[in-house]
Amino acid sequence: MTVAITPQTTTRQELVDRVARLRRERNAVILAHNYQLPEVQDVADYVGDSLGLSQQAASTSADVIVFCGVHFMAETAAILSPDKTVLLPDLDAGCSLAATITAEQLREWKRQHPGAVVVSYVNTTAEVKAESDYCCTSSNAEAVIRSIPEDREILFCPDMFLGAHLERVTGRRMHVWMGECHVHAGIEPQQLDAERRLHPDAELLIHPECGCTSSTMYRMSSGDIGGPATVVTSTEGMVRRAAASPASTFIVATEVGIIHRMQQLAPQKRFLPASDAAVCGYMKMITLEKVAASLERMQPRVTVDPAVAARARRAIDRMMAVSRGEVAAA
Ligand code: 13P
Ligand code: SF4
Repeated sequence: MTVAITPQTTTRQELVDRVARLRRERNAVILAHNYQLPEVQDVADYVGDSLGLSQQAASTSADVIVFCGVHFMAETAAILSPDKTVLLPDLDAGCSLAATITAEQLREWKRQHPGAVVVSYVNTTAEVKAESDYCCTSSNAEAVIRSIPEDREILFCPDMFLGAHLERVTGRRMHVWMGECHVHAGIEPQQLDAERRLHPDAELLIHPECGCTSSTMYRMSSGDIGGPATVVTSTEGMVRRAAASPASTFIVATEVGIIHRMQQLAPQKRFLPASDAAVCGYMKMITLEKVAASLERMQPRVTVDPAVAARARRAIDRMMAVSRGEVAAA
């Protein structure tokens, strides 16, 4: 099909119209993560967390997936939908957490722990997923860990804060890779404390990748801090809680882009970032201009080597099965 290349437009509305026209012409679906820029979220067909985006990528009938997120997410879409064209509007949109472990480092770790079950957070490259038994996201990590028989040794990578959170909620001891996301690790417990002092009635919504999660949960369980609910959950879980909770003010400990979605779903409520500096520069690389350009040029594409994809797919499929409540032994 031939698609006319239009000259550079200037206004926001012209860009939005151009994206809408190209989406129709290409039979494309636009998937956006909760951290995307507001104008990108607003043109998306679906906005959600890593698990929701994977489910959408697996089930779409579109020919083209425009992935407004970061590279590992687009790779996951390409693994789940090998017959679709997956566009990532800026190939440099990486992830500091995914960069903390390579497939070779994981192979070496496995050599040190023969027989261990490997659980990799979705924020990893396709090559790392291919070396793993299970994938997990922040939505289903607890269920994945609980599904593994008690007598099996577990290697969990790459996020140390999510790993510590999982050890606490499941009571399982695991070997945890010492990786972190620079955005979430940068949200200090002291910042959270300062916000709580200013807004004692606010509910806390915390992403498990946060450096403040472990200390906050420890202090809550020891009775050191009390007050309204503290909810540790995925980005989509945070959005849902914000809409459903009876509270009117929330301290949001994750990337600030999520507040756009919360504000849309609950305009009468107040959402305060735990840290104004919690901005993921990689997520913000995806702009409306780049979304339009990628649809126009059908570039840049994300593809995964079929042999790597087949091995990574097993780990992702086991995660999806656990999410559906099925048994998925490694
Ligand atoms: P979610 O799966 O909770 O959306 O998290 C993804 C992510 O990259 C968090 O930084
Ligand atoms: Fe990666 Fe952190 Fe950005 Fe999420 S917020 S995409 S974990 S760098």
